[in-house]
Amino acid sequence: MAESLLIDANLSKEDKYKALLPQIEALTTGETDLIANVSNMVAALRQGMGFFWVGVYFNKEGQLVLGPFQGPVACTRIPYHKGVCGACYTQQKTILVPDVEAFPGHIACSSDSKSEIVLPAIKDGEVKLVLDVDSDQLNDFDETDQKYLEQLMKLVESWY
Ligand code: SME
Repeated sequence: MAESLLIDANLSKEDKYKALLPQIEALTTGETDLIANVSNMVAALRQGMGFFWVGVYFNKEGQLVLGPFQGPVACTRIPYHKGVCGACYTQQKTILVPDVEAFPGHIACSSDSKSEIVLPAIKDGEVKLVLDVDSDQLNDFDETDQKYLEQLMKLVESWY
């Protein structure tokens, strides 16, 4: 297993994703423990992409419960119908929010968070977890993030 990531900070966002995704796959291949793999995935995303906050919420106990993350401390439990994470859960699709203030019901775990993207990992028709990425800049996520993070969610789905 690789012990460190190789990402050139000068690469474009798309090239960073192209370099990072195979490294996340390599980091997690052969490991069967879900928490170990999710932990390394979020650490790699934080390190490789420089995200302000990145982490997962698991579908468990009838709600979304905080799992491994990197960044400031966060809300621990989110009802299925609340916030951007809840919208991702109920709609079973990626939710891209350019301005969190403009999203009705957005849950502000950190007042520094300005834009957000949340993606589901779905197995047998059920959302198993959502990946949440927050930025302290407005309008920081676009279709490039969506494309590569959705590819990453396919890897996460293969862990179930
Ligand atoms: N903003 C999210 C809550 C999670 S934090 O951003 C880490 C939401 O509205 O669901």
